[in-house]
Amino acid sequence: MSDTTPDPTATVPGAPSSEPPTLEEPTDPRPPPPPKPEQGTPEPRTPTGVSLEADPTDFAQQGEYLTTSTGTRLRDTDHSLKAGERGPTLLQDHHFREKMTHFDHERIPERVVHARGTGAHGVFLGYGTAGDLSRAAFLGKDVLTPVFVRFSTVLGSRGSADTVRDTRGFATKFYTSEGVFDLVGNNIPVFFIQDGIKFPDVIHAGKPHPDREIPQAQSAHDTFWDFVSLHTEAQHHTMWNMSDRGIPRSYRTMEGFGVHTFRLVAADGSSSLAKFHWKPRLGVHSLVWEEAQMLAGFDPDFHRRDLYDAIEAGAFPQWELGVQVFPDTPDQTFEGIDLLDPTKLVPEELAPVQPIGELTLNATPTNFFAETEQVAFHLGHLVPGIDVTDDPLLQARLFSYVDTQLTRLGGPNFNQLPVNRTHAPVNDMLRDGMHQSAVHGGVAPYKPNSLDGGCPFTVGAGEPALQDFPAAVAAEATKVRRNPASFEDHFSQTRQFWVSMSPVEQDHIVAAYAFELGKCWDSTIRTRQLLALAQVDDGLAARVATRLGMPAPASVDVPEVEPSPALSQIGREWPVEGRQVGVVVSADTDPADVEALTTALREALVTVLLVAPVGGPVWPDRPEQAHRTLHTARSVELDAVVLADAPPPLGDEPVVDATVPAVDPRVTTLVSEALRHAKPVAVLEPSIAERLGVDTSAPGVLTGDLDGLAGDLVRALSTHRVWERQGRTS
Ligand code: HEM
Repeated sequence: MSDTTPDPTATVPGAPSSEPPTLEEPTDPRPPPPPKPEQGTPEPRTPTGVSLEADPTDFAQQGEYLTTSTGTRLRDTDHSLKAGERGPTLLQDHHFREKMTHFDHERIPERVVHARGTGAHGVFLGYGTAGDLSRAAFLGKDVLTPVFVRFSTVLGSRGSADTVRDTRGFATKFYTSEGVFDLVGNNIPVFFIQDGIKFPDVIHAGKPHPDREIPQAQSAHDTFWDFVSLHTEAQHHTMWNMSDRGIPRSYRTMEGFGVHTFRLVAADGSSSLAKFHWKPRLGVHSLVWEEAQMLAGFDPDFHRRDLYDAIEAGAFPQWELGVQVFPDTPDQTFEGIDLLDPTKLVPEELAPVQPIGELTLNATPTNFFAETEQVAFHLGHLVPGIDVTDDPLLQARLFSYVDTQLTRLGGPNFNQLPVNRTHAPVNDMLRDGMHQSAVHGGVAPYKPNSLDGGCPFTVGAGEPALQDFPAAVAAEATKVRRNPASFEDHFSQTRQFWVSMSPVEQDHIVAAYAFELGKCWDSTIRTRQLLALAQVDDGLAARVATRLGMPAPASVDVPEVEPSPALSQIGREWPVEGRQVGVVVSADTDPADVEALTTALREALVTVLLVAPVGGPVWPDRPEQAHRTLHTARSVELDAVVLADAPPPLGDEPVVDATVPAVDPRVTTLVSEALRHAKPVAVLEPSIAERLGVDTSAPGVLTGDLDGLAGDLVRALSTHRVWERQGRTS
């Protein structure tokens, strides 16, 4: 352009950008051109109209006066606008229509699986010990990364009970400086299926029967056992489900597993294969089956309440993140175990779990829907230094999560929801779509461009960035719908799990199979599953068959396996923080005794609940209030019971059995359940035990002076249960 030619962009409106483009494609990263002078944007505001400068706690809806959704104050929300007091409602009533329309659309689809769950905020501390393995910044020494964790069951609907027998989800969103990393795992280290194309099959089999929509949130029915007895690669995971792992005591006492083998990539480009493990600081503990069933009625929210209460009490749940590391060899096997087969684990005795960081959950959500319900995890949310492998289950998951979230969260912009927002700046060229809340500048969300100065640029070699690891694929590969031969062994690790269990854990597995198969209507399905169990262990198959009243299947050759002691969850001692002890008291109990005991327990961060005959102050002249009454307390919410008294029935309570000494029958029930569920029971005075018929010489029934009793109780809680009382050793 010559000096005399007028610049058309100066005189003619419509220039596409605030700066003229270059002829060549820009090659150097630079800030995008500024907006054109005539462009404005909406004033930045929170979704509730508050200025962004406001304190974050003001971002929520608040203020003294009710408004419309557009902030106009209202004078009446209790009456619709009518033609006269007795007249019809007027279509003109825009406030009524706004209120009702929004209500009509309050629900979103629940997750197709893992619908029932709960979440918490926390922080992850990197130990720096993974530095040689992965370049991921959040694993660096002393790096603190905010996280959101959601725990869940798999099969049940959003309102189903927490304590059903099922696999638990353990999904963690790390808001790292390099973008979001999601570790979407379970509390069981293996999965039902090897190829993701079978996921709809296993879930359809586990969900309620399509005709009668029962049973809810459980696998004890024909379609589930029909599928897993035919599709025997599910047997290993099923055995874990039938074990105590299927009924955790608490989310805080669950292990977590990434399940798949991932690929870690170090700063020098070297790679290794790895499996992720979360190890709970409080140990792995479970309910007993009867407790789980009772809780489903007494407190269906048991696990979410436990999580929230522990955080509120300052007993912050903690897990150590660890990795099992394997050489990234072309065959991707370790000690003969195919690392791409998600129905197999690698015993910790062969590959120890190396700690690389620590997770602490320290805050509960402010709004369940906004956070726990709208959080969207995805295995493709990776950061530099962590990559995927060709595990065919993992590959399917890479597709499924975003696909389902498009429907569940109503469009493609769910990563802009507050709980999903990354803490790293975004410049993604993704535009528009339902519920877009960003106001994107520029005119060139495409590459290559010259109008936005070539922005955004991809980072150069050597800079940390997501990079597809150049893993080799078989040179002679042909398209097939087939698994490798190494996937064919469905029983050796199932047997390894069985032989690694202690006698009491084996008892529970037998009882679980007997319960579940006992709920199957069809005897052919029961028989088929017994045949599958015979391939694991003929003793197991025979014990289950006896309970079903069916003939034991013939013995078959079973694989030789070494037990893996790490698979058993009992026989050790663990911290007791956040455990709940119920102390039965009445106005006749000596308050000094109760105070001494409860103070000692609270010092160990045990939650003490005073259980009194009625609500209000326990003693007329003292401040202590009853936390539970005999009307509201059940043994199942307690890890141990202290009998500071055995009060008589209230005069107007129905007498259950007039021959029984005058103890409130609900105390008798509380104690007998605690004893049956192998919980420690402490008795302050021999006369109380006598009145209740409690054998003080039984294991785990604690007596003695107050000083020693609290310590004994904490020790007994630290082993979780007193299995010796059931004539079983761990
Ligand atoms: C091909 C196999 C699988 C498919 C297709 C699949 C699919 C899904 C889908 C569609 C959801 C709902 C997601 C949402 O609505 O946001 C989900 C949730 C979940 N899945 Fe999977 N899944 C598979 C295997 C697994 C495995 C192996 C694990 C564990 C390692 C797992 C763990 C989870 C967890 C924890 C959630 C809940 C996430 C949350 O709390 O929001 N899934 N899965």
